[in-house]
This record gives sequence, structure tokens and C-alpha cells, in this order.
Amino acid sequence: MKILNLYGSLNGQTEKVALEIEKEAVRAGHEVSTFNLKKEGILFELLDYDLTFIGSGVYTWLPGKAVQGWIDRQLMHARDNNLILPGSPRIPGKFACVYCTYAGPHTGEAEAVPAIKYMGQLFDHLGITVADEWAVVGSFVPKKMQHFNTSGRLGDIEGRPNADDLKQVRGKVAGLLGSLEPCMV
Ligand SMILES: Cc1cc2nc3c(=O)[nH]c(=O)nc-3n(C[C@H](O)[C@H](O)[C@H](O)COP(=O)(O)O)c2cc1C
Repeated sequence: MKILNLYGSLNGQTEKVALEIEKEAVRAGHEVSTFNLKKEGILFELLDYDLTFIGSGVYTWLPGKAVQGWIDRQLMHARDNNLILPGSPRIPGKFACVYCTYAGPHTGEAEAVPAIKYMGQLFDHLGITVADEWAVVGSFVPKKMQHFNTSGRLGDIEGRPNADDLKQVRGKVAGLLGSLEPCMV
């Protein structure tokens, strides 16, 4: 499969997940292009890829600014090229996997859901099937916010995503790639 691996990461937490995705997909023999959306700020022809991963940290229940900005630009590009059709017909063999890292300090996993759904809508509008959605726990990095890592709805999330979280990510990547193999056209 030709895989696009996109992420936005303010403090490096989502980047840890994105790099595991790259590692596992390459190990499984796929062609992977990884981009940090903050650094690159560029547009992609999403339909050139069989599978796109997109991930972001969660900021006030939504993806971070780098990812939101990229979605706005990508949406404008899609509209300019008439790629968004009424009913958003499914395009065979085109998939996305949407994930976030989040800390859920106030309402727990509910804070991850809007961010994941927001990112997924870009792909859904284009007819790209969102094949999987992941919410990965990611602790607060800024010192002045670290008290949330032990006082929030998720309990003690210090040091996450940890080695076990990243192992689970690799397992999910392998599972997803295996499940999509028969759908490739
Ligand atoms: C300023 C700030 C605001 C945040 N807001 C939320 C939030 O509303 N909900 C949440 O679940 N996590 C929130 N977090 C935690 C981050 O989503 C989490 O640490 C994430 O793993 C960061 O990923 P990144 O470093 O890749 O951007 C916030 C973190 C910071 C620094």
C-alpha cells in the first residue's frame, strides 16, 4: 500500500505515535511518507494514497492549529477541484485512520471524540472511508500544566504514551493493514 502518514504535534506526544506507525508500516513492507504538518504546511493529493493516517494532540477538544489549518487548506483545494460530491460517494480502496493523543483532564475520553470526528470529516467528505479511530493517552508536557497528569478524569497519566501504549499502537497498525489488504483495488 501507498501510505501517507500525517501528524501535528505541539509538544512531541503525537509525534511518538506517528513514528511508531511509520516503523510498523515500513516493517510490513508498505511505502510510507511521513509529514509533520507544522513543518511542511503543504497540500496532498489524498486520492493518490491507499491509506492516510492523520493524528493530532487535542486542544480544547479539537485538533491543534497546525492540523486545523491544514484541513482548511486541503478542503479549499478539494472544493476548487470538485472533489467533494453530493452524498460523498465511497471510493473503493481509499482509507484513512484518524487518531489523537489527549489527556482528558476534565471529561476524559469525551475530549478526544470531537477532535477525531473533526479530522475524519475531511476524509469522509472526499469519499475516503475512515477505517479506524484511535484515542491514545498523551500527558501534558508544559511544566505549569503537569498537575493535570495526576488530577484529571483519567487518573495518573504521567509519562504516557509509554512503551506499552506504543506497543499497542504497533499492534493496531498491523491489524489495520491486514484488514485492508483484501480491499486494495
Ligand atoms: C495548552 C494545552 C491544552 C490542552 N487541552 C487539552 C484538552 O482540551 N483536552 C485534552 O484531552 N487534552 C488537552 N491537552 C493535552 C494534550 O492534548 C496532550 O498532551 C497531547 O498528547 C499533546 O500532543 P502533542 O504534543 O502531539 O501536540 C492540552 C495540552 C496543552 C499543552
